[in-house]
This record gives sequence, C-alpha cells and structure tokens, in this order.
Amino acid sequence: ESTAVVIVGAGPAGLTLGNLLLRAGVECVVLERRSRAHVEERQRAGVLDHAGARIFEEWGLADGVLAGVPGDGGLEIRVDGEPRYLDFAELSGGRTGRLIPQQMLVRRLMGAFEEGGGDLRFDAGEVALHGLDGDGPWVSYRDGGGVVREIGCAYVAGCDGHHGVSRASVPAGALTTYSHDHGIGWLTVLADVPPPRRPLMAVASEGFAAHFPRGPMASRFYLQCAPEEGVGDWGEERIWAQLRSRLGDAGLPAGRITEMSVVEMRSFVVDPMRFGRLFLVGDAAHIVTPMGGKGMNLAIGDADVLARALRAAVREGDGEGVAAYSAVCLRRVWNYQEFSRWLTEMTHDAGDVRVAGEFRRQLARARLERLFSSGAAARAFADLVAGG
Ligand code: APR
Repeated sequence: ESTAVVIVGAGPAGLTLGNLLLRAGVECVVLERRSRAHVEERQRAGVLDHAGARIFEEWGLADGVLAGVPGDGGLEIRVDGEPRYLDFAELSGGRTGRLIPQQMLVRRLMGAFEEGGGDLRFDAGEVALHGLDGDGPWVSYRDGGGVVREIGCAYVAGCDGHHGVSRASVPAGALTTYSHDHGIGWLTVLADVPPPRRPLMAVASEGFAAHFPRGPMASRFYLQCAPEEGVGDWGEERIWAQLRSRLGDAGLPAGRITEMSVVEMRSFVVDPMRFGRLFLVGDAAHIVTPMGGKGMNLAIGDADVLARALRAAVREGDGEGVAAYSAVCLRRVWNYQEFSRWLTEMTHDAGDVRVAGEFRRQLARARLERLFSSGAAARAFADLVAGG
C-alpha cells in the first residue's frame, strides 16, 4: 500500500492537515492511535483566533466547520474585583476569532474529511516510522484487527502531540530543543456552569483565576495554585470558594465538575520542525501554555504552511515550500510563545505578592493599567489575540 503523505495523529493538527491536503488534491492517510469515540470527546482548547478562522475560509472549509460558531467579542480582565473590558472587534478592526470548543472543531473536521473521501484510521497501534532520511519512507502499524500493515509514502506528517512517536523517531542530536518551566501551578476544571458573558480573567491577591465559555452550558475554569499542588489538594468546596473570591463573582453557581486536572505551565520548542522526510506539526513540535489560547491555533497554522508546501512538492515538484516549512512556522511559534509568556507574567505577577515580590507586582500592575489607558497598547494586544 502507498500514498503521498502519511499523517500520524488525528488531533487538531492532523485533521486540519488531512482536510487541506484533500482540498489540495494530495493523497493522504491519517493514522490515529486512539478510538473514534475518544478523539471525539477530548475537550481542551476553545478559541480559534482570527488567523486560524481565515485558514478555514481560504481553503473553502468555513461553511462546514465554522457554521453557527459565535465570534470572540472580547475579554474582561477583573482586577481585584473591578471589571475592565477589551473589545477585540473594535481594537483589531474587526479581526475577531471564534469561540469553538475543540471537540466540536474536531468532530466537524472528521466529518468534512470523511465526507470528502478521506482515509481516517482509528485504533492504529504500534505506529513506527522508517527510512525518514531516505527518499522512500514508510510507516508501519497494527490495525484494530491486530494485522500489521505498512504504508509507503513520500512524506510523513508527525501530528501526534507532545508524547507521540514522531519526534521520538528522530535521532538524538538532530534537533535542538528549548524548554521553559514557568514556575507556577494551574488547576483546570471543566464544569456544567453557564458560560460567562465574555471570557474573563481575574487578577486577585489570592492568585490568578479565569472563566471561559465552552459551549452554551459549560465552562472551563483555571486557578493558579502552588507548583507542587495536585488535584488531591483541591476539594470541590475550596475550588468554588476560591473561584468566587478571585473572580469577584459571589453568585457563581457550583455546577457538576466533569473534568479536573493540573496543567503544566511549560513551554517547549523544537528546531528545526523537520527531519528528512518527516515534518513535525502542532504539539509534536511545540508546547505553549494555555495562556493566550494559542496552542490549537499554532497547530492549525503549521498545517496550513505544510499543506501549501506539500501541494507544491507533490503536484508540481517544487520543493521550496518544504525547505522553508520550519523557518516559516518557527517565526509564529516564537511570537506566540512571547505573547503567552508576557500575558502569564503580567497576570500572575500582578496578583499574589508571594509570586514575584512587591516591586514586580507594581510593574505588572502598570503594564495592565497601560492596556486600559493607551489605545496603542490595547491595539497591540488585540493584534496578537487576532494572530497572524
Ligand atoms: N500513533 C498514532 N497517533 C498518536 C500517537 C501514535 N504513536 N501518539 C499520539 N497520537 C495521537 C493522539 O491520540 C492525538 O489524537 O495524536 C493526536 C495528537 O493530538 P493533540 O495532542 O491534540 O496535538 P495537536 O493535534 O498538535 O493539537 C494541538 O490543540 O487543544 C490543543 O492542547 C492542544 O495545543 C494542542 C493543540
């Protein structure tokens, strides 16, 4: 069996790439380790930025993928209970994003891919990549029925997340990795609580908290905690009490908690995002903290760059885009890493004085204040939120 591109992983990166290649007339097969039900239910990100939405529009996928999805109107930053607003539509000249829970995007991408005749295989075990530094790589896996299969291809797209097999298949020393631990803990809670009117971040002396919409009936909350704390340290009572206090929202109802975990506030980048015939896409190549909501958008941006490059290489024999893939993606990756770090530092230093000390707390408050007193500062922020 053979195809032009084997895509490993069916998260946002792999499914976006699969759809774009289908549109580009480039044959591909998507191999996903987990079951269809697992992939469909996995809840994580919730904001498609303006640049990400543009990609689906440009490829003619917006009608299927973004129908009925509300726009991302703005952000409230509540400082010690005082509401402050940033209106992204106004500040960015209408370049707003969309509020779409990741699992809805994933389901729609799966639907579009399969309706278009795409080849999507779940329950693919023991995926292994071979011959990446030659001209004829191939991918082996064990299918759901236990049969070992091999697919020859021209290129492999590693879209299998941070712990996938793709990056691990690259020989030691071929890639430079950069990683950073932000030194703060975050607890995230998904609950059946009506969403806030607009996405909300709160800066308070007890620490950072956030309340984001996840569809019409659900919310995702974030709570800064000590780096060493785990889920076991947080009972439901403490969670709701801390959320009410930090968010300045005494009436916040305690809904059913459907998921709770500790988020690693860590950043990671690999350079180059390529080894021979293997291209790393999305979380396989980089991790950004959830702050700023850029993880899923970076994955979609990488997929767009790679789809254009592979279309030129496979259909026209033009290897320029493929050669430039890593450098083009890394410019955006580092820009978003900086945005995420900047936002993290400002919203955490400004809150709990134990985190950064009194001097840095005052600096962070000045930075925050600038967003509401300087139109230029607010527009620069909105421009990064819109992405590009
Ligand atoms: N073989 C096949 N599939 C694999 C393997 C493997 N060895 N290892 C992992 N996978 C699959 C996972 O099951 C998952 O479906 O690859 C997929 C990777 O998906 P994500 O981890 O979501 O990564 P990505 O598609 O890059 O998503 C990017 O979306 O919500 C955000 O936090 C997420 O920032 C991330 C972004």
